[in-house]
Amino acid sequence: MDEVSRNLINQLRELGSQSEKVVTPPAESKQNNPITALSRAGIPKRYYRATFEALAENGCPEDVRPMAEEAWKYAKHLKENAEAGRGLLFFGEVGRMKTTLACCIAREAIKQGVGVYFISMPELMDTLTSMSRNKDPTEFRKFEDKIKHTRILILDDFGAEYPAGWVLNKVDAIITNRYNNMLPIIITTNMLPDEIKERYVQRVFDRLRSTSKVIGTYGDSLRRNAE
Ligand SMILES: Nc1ncnc2c1ncn2[C@@H]1O[C@H](COP(=O)(O)OP(=O)(O)OP(=O)(O)O)[C@@H](O)[C@H]1O
Ligand SMILES: [Mg+2]
Repeated sequence: MDEVSRNLINQLRELGSQSEKVVTPPAESKQNNPITALSRAGIPKRYYRATFEALAENGCPEDVRPMAEEAWKYAKHLKENAEAGRGLLFFGEVGRMKTTLACCIAREAIKQGVGVYFISMPELMDTLTSMSRNKDPTEFRKFEDKIKHTRILILDDFGAEYPAGWVLNKVDAIITNRYNNMLPIIITTNMLPDEIKERYVQRVFDRLRSTSKVIGTYGDSLRRNAE
């Protein structure tokens, strides 16, 4: 194990002992079932194993490490960052662990009792579209409320949503609303910062840039072929 991984493990141990004080011991109810907590936070099943502990134990590809360290730095001061409305924007090619790291942060949030909700942009737009067609607006309002008020919102695959006019307006509204309320967004995207600037209205990128640390990763996909 190399020094960076060892440091990461030591820091995680430290955090583990701190967060034990914050999190109440899980009771044997469905409400406190860890899997329920993950699914309630919207974490996709594929990423249930994504944790900083697993990363520290299994290692991290050299060229992803700077991004992983930034993610860990953020998670270490999660409450402060969340209070200050600070987010993160991970950009880079496909298969570069952006979603994995966003899920590691979500896990830390759950562990520390900080509200978090993960959703991919295409799913967010699909859900808003289908719910807006319902006659009863209750479900739609509940969902919109979650997107607006969750302490940390993770928007995965930003830019993969269909760029129709109303969608762009909706993205603008979500980002502006959360910006005004000092609620952070963590974004993963395949778009370069300049492409984000071109696609959305100027204020979207401007708000993201001013509240989120922008971290890029370059290199080939880490996904393997199926065997
Ligand atoms: N610690 C690790 N070491 C090496 N590979 C890993 C590690 N963690 C995850 N991976 C691999 O990285 C691949 C891509 O991860 P992930 O889905 O997070 O990428 P992504 O950057 O979000 O991609 P996309 O832009 O396509 O959404 C996964 O298939 C996984 O096998
Ligand atoms: Mg991804």
